[in-house]
Amino acid sequence: MKIIKAKDYQDMSRKAANIISAQLILKPNSVLGLATGSTPIGTYKQLIEWYNKGDLDFSQVRTVNLDEYKGLEPDNPQSYYYFMYENFFKHINIDLKNVHIPNGLEEDPIKECNRYQDIISSLGGIDLQLLGLGNNGHIGFNEPGNCFNKIIHCVELAQSTIDANARFFNSIEEVPRYAYTMGIGSIMSAEKILLIVSGKGKAQILKKVIEGPILPSVPASILQLHKNVTIIADQEASSLLDQKLLD
Ligand code: F6R
Repeated sequence: MKIIKAKDYQDMSRKAANIISAQLILKPNSVLGLATGSTPIGTYKQLIEWYNKGDLDFSQVRTVNLDEYKGLEPDNPQSYYYFMYENFFKHINIDLKNVHIPNGLEEDPIKECNRYQDIISSLGGIDLQLLGLGNNGHIGFNEPGNCFNKIIHCVELAQSTIDANARFFNSIEEVPRYAYTMGIGSIMSAEKILLIVSGKGKAQILKKVIEGPILPSVPASILQLHKNVTIIADQEASSLLDQKLLD
């Protein structure tokens, strides 16, 4: 695990965008695994800025998103498709045919999970997977549990996740209870993983993820076993880490 300390949210976002840019320079048709949420917004903004300057080209990039709420249409402002389109895709020269997000409208979980797994396989796997960290240690929507879920699956969201995501909805009742998500196995099979973490609220869980035992009750702790994972944490998020790890 390579752990990089950033000064603040902006510095974290810039550093993450630098790593993604380097990936696209090395392999212009990379398969990027992408995440939604508050954490990557600054990273997407920075990438858009460099694209506007003419420094980045997304024309050959393929993307697969981690997850999508079950039951939301792509044009629902709370859907992850909408989030990705508004915060990233509509600002860059990506071909929307190369954009992949689980279909929240598919009722049949087996059908949708098979379809999405086939897409990832047909793309040849993920070159670089961007991740945020849930307050409860989840990655994607792999919630704390008794085992690590390997493949893409339909998950019932933990109450703590519903509470955390309620800020984006008019009321907590509107937060969907189910989502499609890449599994821990899908995430771990990415060539490279980039986890970005920001804010005091994530300090405790980040310490467990990096320094604690590998447990399904802390899903992101499995990243300790990945051969190429970079964590960029801002000062607040990294404040409880053993400082020796950061030198
Ligand atoms: C989003 C996702 C989630 C978030 C996590 C952190 O696609 O898969 O795991 O990365 O919930 O969310 P924020 O960044 O809003 O704290």
